[in-house]
Amino acid sequence: MPLSNMFLRSRRFSFLLLGCVACSPNVSGVDPSNATQVARGAAVYSQLCAACHGANLEGQPDWRIRKTNGRLPAPPHDASGHTWHHPTSMLVEIVRDGMVPPNAPDGYESDMPAFGKTLSSDDIVAVLSFIQSKWTDDVRAFRRENKLDID
Ligand code: HEC
Repeated sequence: MPLSNMFLRSRRFSFLLLGCVACSPNVSGVDPSNATQVARGAAVYSQLCAACHGANLEGQPDWRIRKTNGRLPAPPHDASGHTWHHPTSMLVEIVRDGMVPPNAPDGYESDMPAFGKTLSSDDIVAVLSFIQSKWTDDVRAFRRENKLDID
């Protein structure tokens, strides 16, 4: 087989593989029904997130109103906020990379730190499992209907 053909085939093969990974459920590993993960996430949360997002995930006061420096306060992670509107894959990216493109406009200024260098990917998955374990049945149903947990 000519080399160029082999190249095309292997490209197609890796494309198919990627396609499969993207369509299997819960690729990120976030699982609010996994008690071990949730306990690990609770510890991470109280150490690194609670100072801004609140010990009970309630967010900062007046979290919808920009501060005098133009930045937004930390939103709640419970059902009263908007964390639950976003796909799990986006939440993983925000915790890892902070508020940068593609999840925020270029040059956007935010107090949300990037935890990619502080936390392992297992810790990020755990803290999101903990946050999701606090969501209500309504929120869970909404996310199922809108397929927000599939990746
Ligand atoms: C220094 C304060 C601070 C700390 C600490 C912090 N955050 Fe944030 N976080 C923010 C702010 C402020 C925003 C809102 C960003 C914006 O829109 O500008 C935010 C936004 C987010 C969002 C996006 C919410 C949404 O609805 O768009 C997620 C997810 C998040 N934080 C998770 C975490 C997790 C998990 C931790 C701990 C590992 C953490 N944050 C620690 C300040 C903080």
